[in-house]
Amino acid sequence: MGIRILGTGSYLPEKVLTNSDLTRIVDTSDEWITTRTGIAERHIAADDEAVSDMAYHAAMKAIDAAGTTPEEIDGIILCTISPDHLFPSSACILQQRLNCPRAFCFDLQAACTGLIYALEVAHSMMLSNKKFRKVLVVSSEKLSYITDWTDRNTCVLFGDGAAALVLGSTDNGEDSIIAASLGADGNHWSKLQVPAGGSRMPVTQEAIDNHLYCIHMSGQDVFKLAVSAMADSCNEALEIAGLTNDDIDWLVPHQANLRIMKMVANRLSIPIERVYVNVNRYGNTSSATIGICLDEMIRNGLIKKGQNVLMTAFGGGLTWGSIIIKY
Ligand code: UT7
Repeated sequence: MGIRILGTGSYLPEKVLTNSDLTRIVDTSDEWITTRTGIAERHIAADDEAVSDMAYHAAMKAIDAAGTTPEEIDGIILCTISPDHLFPSSACILQQRLNCPRAFCFDLQAACTGLIYALEVAHSMMLSNKKFRKVLVVSSEKLSYITDWTDRNTCVLFGDGAAALVLGSTDNGEDSIIAASLGADGNHWSKLQVPAGGSRMPVTQEAIDNHLYCIHMSGQDVFKLAVSAMADSCNEALEIAGLTNDDIDWLVPHQANLRIMKMVANRLSIPIERVYVNVNRYGNTSSATIGICLDEMIRNGLIKKGQNVLMTAFGGGLTWGSIIIKY
């Protein structure tokens, strides 16, 4: 038995916020944002649009592309750092909206590495329990509501969006997920965090006044750690798969910063033409970036049957991971 990607979908909210729009909010410039990050614009969810709403649109597209129906879905894993509520899980809210009565549901929180973790979790669950024949993996993020719009160090980086994949089990042994490498280092947890809103620091007026319910990041530290962790985990995944960089048709890195992506590609000796980039259009949508890339690439016919795709991500935790898919 093996696992295949049956269909993908993605959703970006309608509103677009350009770099020039941001120059009217904080002391920044299009030139700074473009040269330091590669980002030109990002999408921002409507006030009444929550993570499960965006997840719903992406999931419906993936279910359609997979040629299946919500009733056939056996499980939902939803990756997010910006859930509808602290609990219940946004996966349960999505289940109700999609109407997948027999699906198990849980949220998975590995920050920007969420989708890589979730694919490996879904893959392992499906291989170990034959009852789970179709599992929906979704990443959805409304980072705009935890963005400090007065902090130019962070507010230019993030965007909102969602992506979904339907994984299906095959009886012929054909397995799309051929290697995975996952890692974390909690020693650096405070370098990328939302300080308030949990049991450590509840939301108080003081926390609100100091924007402690928003994303705080030590950008330069995270930058350096991201490059080496992603490159090392890609190498580990290649070794597990018994492949070399020449066997990789596409590198799909987490879309946080174009400079990070170029440095990772350079360390792996993968030419930039084989690296998929859309950070210019969407910014950093945390766990959703890789899924949005994958959906765009599949819909545009860039990924061909039989090609090897190496996906890698890094984020809060700190967490990182890489997965190789034979499409
Ligand atoms: O998704 C999870 C993983 N996240 C990441 O991988 C993000 C990793 N970090 C980064 O991508 C980069 O560190 C940033 C894009 C966040 C920052 O780029 P940087 O080249 O590391 O800039 P910096 O933080 O060292 O700041 C350089 C200068 C500072 O000014 P001074 O102190 O040199 O005068 C900042 O105040 O740039 C200034 N600056 C800005 N200037 C204009 C910071 N943000 C802005 C801005 N516009 N938006």
